[in-house]
Amino acid sequence: MIHQSTVVCEEMGGNYAWEVVWGGEGRYAWIAIYPRPSECPDSFYNGGVENPRDLEFGLMTVSRKAGPTTAAKQEQGARRSSAVLITGAGGEVGHGLICALHGAGGNSIIATDLRKLEPDQRKMCLETFVGDVCDETLLDRLLAMYEITEIYHLAALLSTRAEFKPETAHAVNVGGTLNLLHLAAEQTRSHGRRVKFIFPSSIAAYGLPDVATKEKAGAIREDDYPSPTTMYGCNKQYCENLGRYYARWYRQLAEDRIADILDFRCVRYPGLISSETVPSGGTSDYAPEMIHAAASGKPYACFVREDARIPFMTMPEAIEATLKLASADASQLTRCVYNISSFAPTAGEIANLVKEYFPKAEITFQPDQQRQAIVDSWPADIDCSAAQRDWGYKPRHTLESAFEEYLVPNIKARYEPSV
Ligand SMILES: NC(=O)c1ccc[n+]([C@@H]2O[C@H](COP(=O)([O-])OP(=O)(O)OC[C@H]3O[C@@H](n4cnc5c(N)ncnc54)[C@H](O)[C@@H]3O)[C@@H](O)[C@H]2O)c1
Repeated sequence: MIHQSTVVCEEMGGNYAWEVVWGGEGRYAWIAIYPRPSECPDSFYNGGVENPRDLEFGLMTVSRKAGPTTAAKQEQGARRSSAVLITGAGGEVGHGLICALHGAGGNSIIATDLRKLEPDQRKMCLETFVGDVCDETLLDRLLAMYEITEIYHLAALLSTRAEFKPETAHAVNVGGTLNLLHLAAEQTRSHGRRVKFIFPSSIAAYGLPDVATKEKAGAIREDDYPSPTTMYGCNKQYCENLGRYYARWYRQLAEDRIADILDFRCVRYPGLISSETVPSGGTSDYAPEMIHAAASGKPYACFVREDARIPFMTMPEAIEATLKLASADASQLTRCVYNISSFAPTAGEIANLVKEYFPKAEITFQPDQQRQAIVDSWPADIDCSAAQRDWGYKPRHTLESAFEEYLVPNIKARYEPSV
């Protein structure tokens, strides 16, 4: 049973096509309003109400008495297919994650990003949407169209970019995450299965006060040094807490509260190095940039000191670990947030290895004091024992094996024609 109509809504100034989707036995309704009926995609018409007059469009209020007819409920159930949602899917991690989830089979992937995904990536998805995670209408459309069972919320403005536009970063990194957490909670409410929410945080969530403390601290644990110095780090740390709040305490005083509405799981990534994609906007980018520059025959001026040390891992390891955490038995998880990393070299050690494999590489060190200060506030190493104990995280590579087995062969193949 499909209800679609065009109504005149003076307060909003014109004609609108509308649609309503009910969920959770009439506890809430979702409304989509479009400037023109022709903008409603077919797959959108999957809701229904007993009496459309219960909707008061001028005030945008909805009668809570009306509920879906049995036919409408059946239709809604029949038309909404189950899916895994990836936000920020066009980025470096999204690229690897789509391949891995698709390769594992059995996953219907819905992907969103501000930019259009590459054709190869699009082919692996059930559907892709170009849109902003701050746009609640887009997220509401997803809610109406799919039963989302798992969310990988990757969309973010990274650490360097965020320092140029801190308020925008806050809007995207925090506002976007809040929207997605809300969407996840509504999904659980609508289909009754606890949505899994996987969130990549970062070593940027840490803040060490000075280099001496950093050197003395060694490999630090998740709850150590929780005072980040960047907007991105503040955003990540707050979002970790938001996730924990939604998972355990969301609407804790409401009568119709659903306990443990989300299954929130978070990894704090170190710097990630991919052989397939070149990063932009991050402060750990010097490592991948150095390797890609050498392989493509370009000189590279490293923006941190030779002795700058932070943890890293390869992109496939990060994806593998993320999926391992996602599939871990919930009863084994003693916390929401886990450190993961594989090796913790200095920038100089990375440069030396790059020169071993690419003897013509021209690498100089020209530290940018501000970016160096950010790296100085991040840990030299992190303790991954909680991830090892709870869900069996195991680094696959040392720095040397990452170069030998993963980075060099793949990067050489990628740049072959220009080397
Ligand atoms: N790459 C790393 O080294 C690293 C390290 C630690 C944590 N992380 C985290 O992993 C996640 C993925 O990182 P990545 O390396 O793929 O970053 P990326 O910059 O390559 O990708 C982020 C994607 O998010 C999209 N995006 C940005 N703003 C958006 C918005 N408002 N709406 C929709 N999409 C938007 C961008 O278009 C981009 O495709 C991020 O949350 C990041 O903070 C990455």
